[in-house]
Amino acid sequence: MATFEVRGLGKEFPTDPPVRALDGIDLSIGEGDFVVLLGPSGCGKSTLLDILSGLQDKTEGEVLFEGVPVAGTNSRIGVVFQDASLYPWRTVARNVEIGLEFRGVPRAERRAAAAEYLTQVGLAGFERKYPHQLSGGMRQRAGIARTLATEPAVLLMDEPFGAVDHLTRIQLQRDLLALWESRRRTVVFVTHDVGEAVYLADRVILLSPRPGRVHREFPIDVPRPRRKGDIELLALESEIYQALGRIEEQADAEL
Ligand SMILES: Nc1ncnc2c1ncn2[C@@H]1O[C@H](COP(=O)(O)OP(=O)(O)OP(=O)(O)O)[C@@H](O)[C@H]1O
Ligand SMILES: [Mg+2]
Repeated sequence: MATFEVRGLGKEFPTDPPVRALDGIDLSIGEGDFVVLLGPSGCGKSTLLDILSGLQDKTEGEVLFEGVPVAGTNSRIGVVFQDASLYPWRTVARNVEIGLEFRGVPRAERRAAAAEYLTQVGLAGFERKYPHQLSGGMRQRAGIARTLATEPAVLLMDEPFGAVDHLTRIQLQRDLLALWESRRRTVVFVTHDVGEAVYLADRVILLSPRPGRVHREFPIDVPRPRRKGDIELLALESEIYQALGRIEEQADAEL
């Protein structure tokens, strides 16, 4: 069974005038897939992710998670946003524990889980620091640990590395792939960065400008582990850049 099955999905925001963000989206995401959503700014990537996670309602169509219609948030679906938005008054460990706290997990167990997931993201030893004592990349890692601590089956990530510097970003991409390869969670990842998309994905889904539709899908059949700058990845990157350029030109012409 697919992790997500999306059929005829549309979304209109009831603003004045209404904004049609998504239209006729059909998408099937298999268990363990690493899918990247790519597309021009405002094409509805975040909206699509929010609908998959149950944070937003759809206007029409069908969205199934493990065969069941999505209705509200689900603890098996973990979300990571661009900004880790840690609570500044809580230590790193207590930020990571928060989802477990909501579930009523006892303190000692929460502590142990926080330590384990902080180690997984390379933050062992930072448990007692506060968010302001971390770099941007470290805060992002802590945010990922917080999501992983709830042991979701699926990770939905909305430009999670958008706010960190280039080298940190490459490191975070590597770490994410290592995590994904060790546990094979399904990942749906939004980015603007075509290089990031081809490096990470099994499939890149290119969305058209608003209203977002599936414009084209690119399978990324490059064997793993992949190397940045690999010629096959560069060729795919260039092909996707060109497709993205064409749809952006089209959108400009229609304005
Ligand atoms: N809560 C809302 N109310 C009204 N319109 C909204 C709302 N959220 C998003 N939109 C509109 O829906 C469209 C899609 O927005 P969305 O944030 O999904 O785009 P995106 O592809 O994630 O863009 P970006 O790449 O800039 O993050 C935009 O036109 C946006 O203005
Ligand atoms: Mg967005």
